[in-house]
Amino acid sequence: MSDFALVTGANSGLGAATAEALACKGIHVLLACRRGEDSTATANALANPRISAVPFDCDLGDLKKVRAFVDKLEKKMGANAQVSILVNNAGMNGTGVKPWKTPENVGFLTQTNFLGPFVLTRLMMSKNMLRGGENGTSKARVVNVSSVTHRTHGNIRDVQAFFNPTREGHYPNTKLANALFTLALNEKFGNSVTAVSADPGGAMTGIWRRYGPLARFAISLIFAPADDAATSVVHAAVADMSSAPKYAYVARGAFAWKLLCGEEPSANVPRWRRLTATGIAVFVDWPIRWISGKMLCSHATLVPPTPQARDLDLANAVWDEAERRAGL
Ligand SMILES: NC(=O)c1ccc[n+]([C@@H]2O[C@H](COP(=O)([O-])OP(=O)(O)OC[C@H]3O[C@@H](n4cnc5c(N)ncnc54)[C@H](OP(=O)(O)O)[C@@H]3O)[C@@H](O)[C@H]2O)c1
Repeated sequence: MSDFALVTGANSGLGAATAEALACKGIHVLLACRRGEDSTATANALANPRISAVPFDCDLGDLKKVRAFVDKLEKKMGANAQVSILVNNAGMNGTGVKPWKTPENVGFLTQTNFLGPFVLTRLMMSKNMLRGGENGTSKARVVNVSSVTHRTHGNIRDVQAFFNPTREGHYPNTKLANALFTLALNEKFGNSVTAVSADPGGAMTGIWRRYGPLARFAISLIFAPADDAATSVVHAAVADMSSAPKYAYVARGAFAWKLLCGEEPSANVPRWRRLTATGIAVFVDWPIRWISGKMLCSHATLVPPTPQARDLDLANAVWDEAERRAGL
């Protein structure tokens, strides 16, 4: 066996659920976690013969560690082994981020959610470890886990806004950066890679662990369990994307409704409307799916991301700045 899917942040929440779902589809999955021992523990817990651990650290919060991870992975896998599906899942929200900036003066949230996965993907590509294979397509698949919150970003005029550190970071901007990465990757490397963004909707996972008990209780009532929310990530990883646009973005249920994913140019959509539509989707998606026994709000499909996520000039500018900051 030499053809794998690699899932980052696989010890928890959506990452673990995605890994399990891919393995159930017959795909051999490698778990990559911030602490290598977590990969092993999770592989043991999931107990699926198609799931294996990467036994060393995949910490995206530090560029040196990302480089070290790719070097070790290359040595461990050997020349013929390949990753044909990379799921850039690992991420965090802004609450209580410490330290809040990297030595390169990049906001830590941006480093973890965007710059780390950007460098991981680019290095794996440059070492020819990311190649199409047995897992469905002739091209490698890169899934960038974005979020509905990318629709709530402010009007970004300066690309530095994605990178410059602020104490809490700006989660929606990092998730917009994920969607822009998808667009630029398809534009620049579309002959060898298919990139797809995935919007899991609201998921009750470890990402809320720093919230207070009341907030967590409320979230547990309206957000889907991880194995359900991982559906759009799995769809992004394995569905046929041959006719997908370069900004390919998969959402599901209420998060794919026209109210939220209309085609209007951003100038015509006031931010309050985007926030309201997001709020409605957040509140109704899982309850409708749950009450209807998954008859409703279950379909994962391609939808347009926010107009700024379809802006190729912005995608290229973020790409160039990411390269500059990472010294690629
Ligand atoms: N939950 C939601 O409602 C929701 C909605 C939209 C999008 N998302 C996105 O879904 C993805 C997965 O989040 P989740 O909800 O499943 O949360 P989670 O349960 O907290 O899982 C996040 C994973 O990312 C890992 N991670 C965090 N910082 C890292 C770093 N510096 N280096 C490497 N790995 C790191 C975590 O590792 P540790 O266990 O070591 O911390 C964990 O494995 C994230 O990208 C998130 O933005 C989540």
